[in-house]
Amino acid sequence: MYRADLLKGRHALITGGGTGLGKAMGVRFAELGARVSVVGRRVGPLKETVEEIRAKGGEAFHTTCDVRDFEAVEKMIEACEKAQGPIDTLVNNAAGNFIARTEKLSANAFNAVVGIVLQGSFYCTLVMGRKWIAAKQPGNVLSISTTYASSGSGSGYVVPSACAKAGVLAMTRSLAVEWAPYKIRLNAIAPGPFPTEGAFSRLLPSAALEERARNDNPMKRFGKGEELANLAVYLVSEESGYVNGECVVIDGGQWLKGAGEFNMFGELTEEGWAELEKARKK
Ligand code: COA
Repeated sequence: MYRADLLKGRHALITGGGTGLGKAMGVRFAELGARVSVVGRRVGPLKETVEEIRAKGGEAFHTTCDVRDFEAVEKMIEACEKAQGPIDTLVNNAAGNFIARTEKLSANAFNAVVGIVLQGSFYCTLVMGRKWIAAKQPGNVLSISTTYASSGSGSGYVVPSACAKAGVLAMTRSLAVEWAPYKIRLNAIAPGPFPTEGAFSRLLPSAALEERARNDNPMKRFGKGEELANLAVYLVSEESGYVNGECVVIDGGQWLKGAGEFNMFGELTEEGWAELEKARKK
């Protein structure tokens, strides 16, 4: 579908790039010629991703970083640029989420999710944006949002994530206007259900819930990592040069069926919640 050298000469930084959708995007970007820097909290998965990319002939680098820490973000970006040259593409993918009844959440639970998703995305975007503006270089930011953060949507039982992802969308649209004169484009992707270890082990922890979610989708299937990765390639490539401040939904048509990807948890019994909470402590 794409020219083999579509992203040649590019350097993409992907947060949460060691696993799941972040990894899928990293692998695909590298296949199309980009140098890729993957960052996250756990060194093991990052190392594996880099090895996989290099084994296929691609160029990749990894370093650990908790995106909630602004100084750590600055240092991480310095390390990536030292290793592979100036970054021109940022993918804000790192996320945290859990299914919970909101009245049972601690203040810190809200902070943990908002810290990773909203503050983390802002910190990375701010550091990169300042650099691009100072160097008079164009830049590209792609953020992973969610269907339950868009207008006309929402979802119970994932309130910290919904709030944080809505913030990421607001940042994307606001900066798309503010930074357009600097040739910095910002777009987002709103994925529906994609089976990744990080998300599904937390969000749909039982086979029955997973089956229900699959059946609920108009296409009766979940998304594939490579489907999302190909959309991401388009949005960061020059081929989409006039797309700015947009959020593209990729969910098999799920949100059109009714808002609230996780509203089905409203039917869970006390016993069901107890099981879910037990699974969390494993
Ligand atoms: N339900 C309710 N509260 C939860 C929770 C759950 N399933 N999991 C964690 N929390 C609370 C904790 O109790 C803690 O609050 P407290 O200090 O008041 O007890 C707070 O959230 C932070 O948890 P902790 O595990 O210490 O934080 P962390 O920063 O290491 O973890 C998370 C971040 C919570 C987001 C964790 O789930 C994570 O590492 N996620 C990364 C991957 C992921 O979620 N991917 C899915 C993407 S869709």
